[in-house]
Amino acid sequence: MSALVVYESMFGSTRDVAHAVADGLRETVPVRVVEVGALLAEPGGTAVPEEVGLLVVGGPTHAFGMSRESTRASAAREARTGAEALVSRHVGIREWLDVVRMPAHTLLVATFDTRLRRPNLPGSAARSAERALRHRGAVPAVDARSFEVLGMADGLAEGELAAAQEWGRLLAGTLPASR
Ligand SMILES: Cc1cc2nc3c(=O)[nH]c(=O)nc-3n(C[C@H](O)[C@H](O)[C@H](O)COP(=O)(O)O)c2cc1C
Repeated sequence: MSALVVYESMFGSTRDVAHAVADGLRETVPVRVVEVGALLAEPGGTAVPEEVGLLVVGGPTHAFGMSRESTRASAAREARTGAEALVSRHVGIREWLDVVRMPAHTLLVATFDTRLRRPNLPGSAARSAERALRHRGAVPAVDARSFEVLGMADGLAEGELAAAQEWGRLLAGTLPASR
């Protein structure tokens, strides 16, 4: 079975984490990594394919949880290079999780987010996404995981990409080869 990594990102940090996680997974598992807006624009993009055994979902923490239209608009105002430079301007993982259809088998899931190192605020997009997936009958393979950024649009803290790749390797180990 394969893994599917679906991510949302405003300034690129969560995108970079998603690709690092996919790199870790890819050492042993076939993996597809896709931005959530691109996935939603695909025919069938709201259904998790049957051959997917592990779904990984990641997004930036906005206002203590998953982004909303209003927080993405705030991010657009923050963007130094203009809204067109945002990776996921129009849709986020919250909107995808609202409409996603699960495969017939029990789906293993893992969620991650990016969040500020300082201040250490409560709330996590990863935990909110995990809750949404549990409600749809999916089973978390590991605890929701946060990766730290140095500022709203200032990039990842040192070591986080390597940690993300390692987390991807760990995730690959939760996927039984026989599934
Ligand atoms: C509107 C907005 C709200 C945010 N709220 C939070 C928050 O509640 N907690 C937090 O740790 N970081 C918060 N952040 C910082 C984001 O988590 C950070 O911009 C993100 O991790 C960067 O990832 P990206 O480059 O993939 O967009 C917020 C950022 C924006 C733009």
